[in-house]
Amino acid sequence: MIVFGTRPEAIKMCPLVNVLKANDAFKTCVCVTGQHRQMLDQVLDVFDVKPEYDLSIMKQNQTLFDVTTDVLNKIKDVLDQEQPDIVLVHGDTSTTFVTALACFYMHIPVGHVEAGLRTYNLQSPFPEEFNRQGVGLIANLHFAPTKKAKDNLISEGKNPETIFVTGNTAIDALKTTVRKEYYHELFDWVGEDRLILITAHRRENLGTPMHHMFRAIRRILDEYEDVKAIYPIHLNPVVREAAKEEFGNSDSIKLIEPLDVIDFHNFMKKSYIILTDSGGIQEEAPSLGKPVLVMRDTTERPEGIEAGTLKLVGTSEDIIYNSIRKYLNDNDAYERMSKASNPYGDGTASIQIAQIIENYLDPKE
Ligand code: UD1
Ligand code: UDP
Repeated sequence: MIVFGTRPEAIKMCPLVNVLKANDAFKTCVCVTGQHRQMLDQVLDVFDVKPEYDLSIMKQNQTLFDVTTDVLNKIKDVLDQEQPDIVLVHGDTSTTFVTALACFYMHIPVGHVEAGLRTYNLQSPFPEEFNRQGVGLIANLHFAPTKKAKDNLISEGKNPETIFVTGNTAIDALKTTVRKEYYHELFDWVGEDRLILITAHRRENLGTPMHHMFRAIRRILDEYEDVKAIYPIHLNPVVREAAKEEFGNSDSIKLIEPLDVIDFHNFMKKSYIILTDSGGIQEEAPSLGKPVLVMRDTTERPEGIEAGTLKLVGTSEDIIYNSIRKYLNDNDAYERMSKASNPYGDGTASIQIAQIIENYLDPKE
């Protein structure tokens, strides 16, 4: 059984669902928690995945308590009914942690996809660092995207025989979405100008930090005539309010609804620079050679920093403003940052994970 609930989990689990479903060795069952609704359904449509179970838990402005208790209460019946041999979860959301916890209570083995990412700061990202460390304690199989992630798990005392470096399934997804002939009508609006693509949603950034981030970008848009921005705003109402307040009356930015993943990846490809606090975008951008200024104080993705594509800029208005200016003004610095590299595998992570699970469930020796 594969369980996920939010957009990023879906983007990185649907390629695996489709590989497992095509393999007769498994009876594959998908349960979505519906922690996200529209943003989850967008991804399910693109990958043509039709879940067997949908817990439909999302509420407007849901708290961590809502998500945690609703998933825990509702998933028990599904696990009881299906009696899975293994449950696969992804990354670090509340859906992920709570599902692993339910499996732990019911003695069901857990495979953790995207295991071993760490900042070792429980407040950043919050609550994701706790969630992934918690799942790490429970999981029987750890699918680490990189050697660094594997090393984190080993340093925590996990059995090396349960850890597999597979690359990140984000790259599996990216291989199917980016298209040469892609066109979108907003590209006409951008014209020859330089495009800044923006996303933001982290819980620890809600409120003052997010306003500072947006004000820094607003100053850039007011200053540079050849720069435009597109911001597909997360459906979190708190984020939407802040974005409308800071950008509402600017002609240089389009505030739009979340894009489906095919559109978004092609918008990334078209962009000059990406400003984000997202996790997944930090994995995708190095492959596309797109500079990303990460508006956070920590990252669990040091590979992109080492590759030169990512730069941590925090959430202070002046630092973000000066960092964007630097890459708009200094072509050499920009070129150094925009070299394509791929620390996250060759796009075969799902196939590798399926093989490892097959061996785990039906060992040959
Ligand atoms: C959650 C994850 C975070 C992940 C992010 C991806 C946790 C604790 N956090 O963020 O790790 O990076 O998703 O985006 O699991 N909403 C809708 N429709 C949607 C999605 C969201 O209306 O399709 C609105 C709802 O009002 C909802 C709010 O956004 O209450 C926040 O959603 P939630 O899943 O709670 O977001 P985060 O916890 O911030
Ligand atoms: N994404 C998308 N549409 C958008 C913005 C982002 O499909 O309008 C994709 C993006 O390519 C990445 C994922 O959503 O794969 C990131 O999700 P999010 O930022 O919500 O969560 P995080 O990665 O921070 O957990």
